[in-house]
Amino acid sequence: MARKNSSGTLIFDGRTHATLAGEVSEAAKILIQGGLVAFPTETVYGLGAAALDPHAVKQIFHAKGRPMDNPLIIHIAKASQMQTLAQNIPSAAWTLAAHFWPGPLTLVLRKQAHVPAATTGGLDSVAIRVPAHPAALALLQAAAIPVAAPSANLSGRPSPTTAAHVLHDLAGRIDAVLDGGPCDVGVESTVLDIRDGKPIVLRPGAVTPAQIRAVLQRDCSVATWLQDSGDKPPSPGLKYLHYAPQAPLYLLKGAPERQLSTLEQLQQQFQAQGKRVGLILSAESATHQKAAELVVLGHRNQPAVLAAHLYDALRYFDEREIDVIIAEGYSTEGMGLALMNRLEKAAGPRVIDVG
Ligand code: TXA
Ligand code: MG
Repeated sequence: MARKNSSGTLIFDGRTHATLAGEVSEAAKILIQGGLVAFPTETVYGLGAAALDPHAVKQIFHAKGRPMDNPLIIHIAKASQMQTLAQNIPSAAWTLAAHFWPGPLTLVLRKQAHVPAATTGGLDSVAIRVPAHPAALALLQAAAIPVAAPSANLSGRPSPTTAAHVLHDLAGRIDAVLDGGPCDVGVESTVLDIRDGKPIVLRPGAVTPAQIRAVLQRDCSVATWLQDSGDKPPSPGLKYLHYAPQAPLYLLKGAPERQLSTLEQLQQQFQAQGKRVGLILSAESATHQKAAELVVLGHRNQPAVLAAHLYDALRYFDEREIDVIIAEGYSTEGMGLALMNRLEKAAGPRVIDVG
């Protein structure tokens, strides 16, 4: 049965098949009644509420401290439910859904009139996905309603990849969390605008532009938007500083050997100022390091593994009260694009290109 956190948030066990059905149906009841339940997906934990109930959805914004104009992703159990939320769905959307769902791809489509403005941040489009985690699918099936869910972190904090991360940010602010263990992908889904059948990546993720190109047999662009350009961002989420650790993060870019020498200089400079420095490195670069505070993400040629460990590294350094973080940069090939996108967001203006 569910345990209760000291602040009153229920913890359901979503890991063992023996208990899954009972725990999931309790969690589903909370959603149906308009409550907030955080649940695991293959990407990150989501903070779920009944997507078509504006009052329930508003509670999500309240619990997270999220700006009301930042729209939510609606999670559904099967692709066929897409037509209950969206209209004028292009055939390319069905092709992508058949190919990538359940999985880390979110499709932005024209919304149906009944989808509340509270859920879509006042936009006439709606973002939809079928998540690939068994506990998420079981919850969506048991609730039998579409579930709006942003990442289950306080706004501006790194997305949670474990139930402990969720409780750290939201205990006492949400009704329950379904603990499904650590998330596999570790960074949020690819958000793809497919309203006109022309794919535009609004946020890179585990489904890459090359994979989308291969499935649709047409070009797939990646939206670029400059923070201070004065233009309207293609996705409202882009204008907020996301994934920020508490300590300033310096991100290096460029040839690995040159990155390492710059890293050592920076490290010495900060340490001379009496600062506690945390390093986020690949296994290859870590062999040279004697720094006390070090997180190794994985091997440089395995961007999916590096990405899976990133948010945990940022949260780890928050807990260690590190003054400044220096992170190595990687190639943007394949999933490296999503990894570097999240690192750049965590760094803000502190990106050092060593060429
Ligand atoms: O992997 C994920 O996508 C996770 C899990 C829980 O599913 N969810 C997630 O949600 O990352 P959130 O709210 O943290 O990020 C959703 C992003 C935001 O950047 C938002 O602006 C964008 O999707 N988005 C949502 N609806 C949109 C729309 N109609 N048009 C453009 N962008 C949209
Ligand atoms: Mg988020």
